[in-house]
Amino acid sequence: MSDIAITLCSKPKPKTPDDALRFGTVFTDHMFVMDYLEGRGWHSPRVVPYQPFELDPATAVLHYAQAVFDGLKAFRGVDGVIRLFRPRKHAERLNRSCERMCIPPLDPDMVVRSFHALIEVDNAWVPSKRGTALYLRPTVIASEPFLGVRAAKNYIYFLILSPVGPYYAEGIKPVKILVADHNVRAVEGGVGDAKTGGNYAASLSAQAEAERAGYTQVLWLDGVHRKYLDEVGSMNIMVKIAGEVATPPLSGTILPGVTRDSILSLMRDWGLKVSERPIAIDEVMAAARNGTLEEMWGTGTAAVVSPVGQLGYKGEKVVINNGEAGPLTRRLYDAITDIQYGLTNDVHHWTEPVVLAKQRRIA
Ligand code: COI
Repeated sequence: MSDIAITLCSKPKPKTPDDALRFGTVFTDHMFVMDYLEGRGWHSPRVVPYQPFELDPATAVLHYAQAVFDGLKAFRGVDGVIRLFRPRKHAERLNRSCERMCIPPLDPDMVVRSFHALIEVDNAWVPSKRGTALYLRPTVIASEPFLGVRAAKNYIYFLILSPVGPYYAEGIKPVKILVADHNVRAVEGGVGDAKTGGNYAASLSAQAEAERAGYTQVLWLDGVHRKYLDEVGSMNIMVKIAGEVATPPLSGTILPGVTRDSILSLMRDWGLKVSERPIAIDEVMAAARNGTLEEMWGTGTAAVVSPVGQLGYKGEKVVINNGEAGPLTRRLYDAITDIQYGLTNDVHHWTEPVVLAKQRRIA
């Protein structure tokens, strides 16, 4: 593998103040790109000025959606150090998504190097305010211009960076969730456990329907029985019922969330009763009615934890924890973000500092 070539932009863009950051609207000055050609493999890793791609209208990804992505964050700690959160886990997941979508695997070391190389160039874009972060979006697309349905012969790996604020305008405030009882997002044997764009496109009509009905997001049920909890929006879902925390198992339809994994580890460290098991929506609604549904929240890279304050299902509405974020949800948010901002001992070694060359270090 050749080394990473760096071409700097001639005119850096003005930066958005930390207070004005939303999710996914601002992009840094540079991007990382690497190409794949059948017979040559992955080659030409480079950092270049952020720019549009020129794609032939016949490019495979535009027709058959052969594409995968991942999403992770880097944080500027209270000590000024920039830390990536579990970058290798994300690189490995990107490769599992590649495998499912018939995309040639990437060297995870190279993917992690791409994170470091690009952040190093654009380190001045990492925001500092608590609640903000630098979101990394590594993506692979099939770039061969060809209309036959088969795996492409050429691909582009690219990485872009976006300084972000909270994912939901509500922040850690509870959101209203509508249970989707006719649309489904995944079935066993499908691609629900791969981070591929089509899963998100397929979720949009149900999300729009939920928004029209006054909800923020959708709670998905399983694709066979419409009975068991799957994911909430684009996040993993967890419930606390009568002292037990439960979350659906990784049975192939849900994304193996890195935040999900981190939160399960923390709760096990704390000695809580935690189960990965099928959870019927009827069990959740019954627990809400009899007062044993203590807390419910989504977990994901973008929002970290997002409490569910209200659930609508088949015309019935239930309020959870008086519509407020519960104590465990808050404790988990604080514990994860304390690790991410370097405020607490990272006993699991989840964070990886980005080492900056002296001349590029910002004041
Ligand atoms: C996450 O929070 O992990 C997500 O997948 C959300 C992203 C698609 C914006």
